[in-house]
Amino acid sequence: MTKYQPIRLAVFASGNGSNFEAIMQSIQKGEVDGELALLVSDQPDAFVLARAEKLGVPSIAFTPKAFESKAAYESEVLDHLKAAKVDLIVLAGYMRIVGKTLLQSYPERIINIHPSLLPNYPGREGIIDAFMDKVEQTGVTVHLVDEGVDTGPILAQKTVAIEEGDTIDSLERKIHALEHELFPKVIQKMIKKLQKEYVK
Ligand code: GRF
Repeated sequence: MTKYQPIRLAVFASGNGSNFEAIMQSIQKGEVDGELALLVSDQPDAFVLARAEKLGVPSIAFTPKAFESKAAYESEVLDHLKAAKVDLIVLAGYMRIVGKTLLQSYPERIINIHPSLLPNYPGREGIIDAFMDKVEQTGVTVHLVDEGVDTGPILAQKTVAIEEGDTIDSLERKIHALEHELFPKVIQKMIKKLQKEYVK
């Protein structure tokens, strides 16, 4: 039997970090066959950093504005990713457009989760925008990251019905529950793909 090398993940997050925690739980349950090598945050006071500490995941946090350019910020992050031998970058509520430095270093190795059925409702308010539009259904998308805002090839989508009586809060809860289920599954698929590429 082929012995695959462990795939090392970095999660990038800016806020609450419920997806980060769901990914970690899936790893602990053996459903995701990777190692969470690093949490990267661009918000030094984000709650996700406390979650990382509780779960024993190494983390780093930066203030991108303190750098002279996006490239300088990303080069610093890249040094840490290399030191941690990261294979795959997972954006889980990372509220920043990824620049060339990271995209070129991790081609087709950066994935993102977005709370709408892309290409509908990209941007920061995917849940609210769909709710305000009174559409019958919205959902969750996982996609490869490119230089755009929530663009890039779609890897998986799941729909959520917006039912009578739903509020923005209830819709948000349904979307997050679905994200916590879908994202680890897609990450696991990516891990399998990378493991096969590494033994070629
Ligand atoms: C999620 O809804 C994700 O789709 C979006 O940002 C939110 C992050 O939530 N990109 P959390 O920080 O993982 O709780």
